Amino acid sequence: MSFNTYFDLNDGLKIPAIGYGTWLSDDEEQLEKAIDAALEVGYRHIDGAYVYQNENVIGRVLQKWFSSGKLKREDIFLTTKLPPSGMRPEHVQKFIKESLAALQVDYVDLYLVHVPFGLKYVEGTLYPTSDDGKSDYDANTDHVAIWKAMEELVSLGLTKSIGVSNFNKDQIQRILDNSEIPPCNLQVEHHAYLQQKDLVRFCKENKIVVTAYSPLGSPGLSKLGRETPDLMGHPVVNEIAKKYNKSAAQVLLKHIIQTGIVAIPKSTNPERLRQNIDIFDFSLSDEDLQTMNDLDQNLRILDFKFLFKGIENHPEYPFKELV
Ligand code: A2P
Repeated sequence: MSFNTYFDLNDGLKIPAIGYGTWLSDDEEQLEKAIDAALEVGYRHIDGAYVYQNENVIGRVLQKWFSSGKLKREDIFLTTKLPPSGMRPEHVQKFIKESLAALQVDYVDLYLVHVPFGLKYVEGTLYPTSDDGKSDYDANTDHVAIWKAMEELVSLGLTKSIGVSNFNKDQIQRILDNSEIPPCNLQVEHHAYLQQKDLVRFCKENKIVVTAYSPLGSPGLSKLGRETPDLMGHPVVNEIAKKYNKSAAQVLLKHIIQTGIVAIPKSTNPERLRQNIDIFDFSLSDEDLQTMNDLDQNLRILDFKFLFKGIENHPEYPFKELV
C-alpha cells in the first residue's frame, strides 16, 4: 500500500497531497470498483461534487468500508462542492445536506464553492438553459453573502473546512476581505501547461492551499469532444520519467506535489490509479523541477464556455483574459 503526504490547511486540518478525482465517472459499476481499488491502494482523499451526480456511489463504497471496520470516517478526507445552481445563501444548506445524504456521512472535510458564477435555480435540472440554448445564468451572484452561508456550515458541523474553486485572484481577495473564516483551499485547473504561477504565489501568501484538477491534462475530456494536450506523451516529461524509472504520469504528479500543491488525478483503471499514488519514493532534482516549470504555456483546457454556453458574459466569469 502506498503512503501519502499531507499539507497543512490554514484552519489546522491536514489534506492528503494526492486525492482521487471523480469527475466524468458516470458509469456506476466502474466507479464503484475504482473507488474500492483506490481505497485498497491507499487513497484517503476523495474529491467529489454535487454536479458530478455520483456522490451516491462514493457514499455506497465508503459505507461498506466503514461498516466492515476497515476504515473509520476520520481516516478519509472527503470533499464536495456547492453546484452553480445553488449560488445563493438560502441554497447553501440545502445542497450540502443533499450531498451529505448521498455520501452517507454527517460531515464533509472540505466544502467548496464550485464556480464563481451562479446559474438560475430550476427544480429538476442542474444546467438550466434558455430557449436560445444559452446557459440560463443568474447575474446577481453575491459571493460575500454566499460565503457567510458557507461559514455557517462550519459552525453547524456540516463541513470542517471551506474553500473555493475556479475563482480568480480578485474574487478570492473579495472573500478574504469579507470573511471570518478565510478560504483554506482553492481548487483550479493546474498541470504542466497551465501552472498559474501568479495565482499560486497569491494563494501561498494568503495561506490558501491550491489543489490541481486535471493534473494530467485531462485526456478523458476527449469523450466530451474536447481537444486536450498530450502531456503524458511529451518527450521532455518522458525523458525525465526514464531517468527516475517512473511513468510520465508519475512525473507530472510529482512535479505538482513537490511545489506544494495537492493533485486529484482521475482514473478508473486499477493499475493507473495505483501508479498515480505511488509517487512518494522519489524526488525530482532542482534541475528537473526547473525543466518541468519551463513547460508552462498558459494553456487552459477548461474555460467553461463549452459546458455553459454564453457564460463568458456573466459578471463573475473568472477567466476574463481569455474572452
Ligand atoms: P483512465 O481512467 O482510463 O486511467 P486528469 O486527472 O488530468 O483529468 O486525467 C484523467 C485521465 O487520464 C483519464 O482519462 C485517465 O484514464 C487518464 N489517466 C489517469 N492516470 C493515468 C496514468 N497513470 N497513465 C495514463 N493515463 C492516465
